[in-house]
Amino acid sequence: MKNQLIEKTEEYVRNELGEDATGHDWFHVDRVRRHALYICREERIGDPFIVEMAALLHDIPDEKLNESAEQGREKLDSFFKTITLPDVAKNHITQIIESISYKGGRKIALESVEAKIVQDADRLDAIGAIGIARAFAYGGKKGQLIYDPNIKVREEMNMEEYRKGKSTSIHHFYEKLLKLKELLNTEAAKKMAESRQRMMLDFLEQFYQEWDGQES
Ligand code: ADP
Ligand code: NI
Repeated sequence: MKNQLIEKTEEYVRNELGEDATGHDWFHVDRVRRHALYICREERIGDPFIVEMAALLHDIPDEKLNESAEQGREKLDSFFKTITLPDVAKNHITQIIESISYKGGRKIALESVEAKIVQDADRLDAIGAIGIARAFAYGGKKGQLIYDPNIKVREEMNMEEYRKGKSTSIHHFYEKLLKLKELLNTEAAKKMAESRQRMMLDFLEQFYQEWDGQES
């Protein structure tokens, strides 16, 4: 019964996300699902079925992939109408998905252990070698530069610079990616984050060396 639901959800998500090139493709979702289940097993916490369903569906209502947040929510609701699952479970999954994204300044407290697990799994996929690849894929798709040494990081901008909203993919590391490790909820995820963090720091160091031409 549960296996069938997972399979049906998998098929739906594959069709919906398919080959999105902003880093939200099916393979991202599959990695988030695997990381989330790993954290569940390793820490012996959370309901694996709820965790897996929420991980599979976590990007479906994303504002970036829908015309609006409202439309995203409707998309998830329409999918729920096609499956047989108690309302408490559907509500819990919806609440997890809404609470883990913090777009538009909206920050909902993570109420369940399952939400903490899925959030960690999604964040792990934004750091490390995969995180580096996703940042440049996203930046390229959005038309932003790899790097521009004349642009400041957001914290150091004045209001006018901030409004212009110029950034680069390298800046995204300082604005978000390097901070994620400290925001992780579970010990298992923190352990996985260590080598990923090192990889990003090494990458940045080498990047600036090559940029400045110091090794030639
Ligand atoms: P998710 O929904 O998987 O948590 P996001 O929707 O925030 O992630 O972003 C998708 C991917 O694109 C992530 O790997 C993220 O780091 C990257 N990304 C988001 N915004 C930027 C940006 N301004 N520059 C470069 N990469 C970005
Ligand atoms: Ni995601």
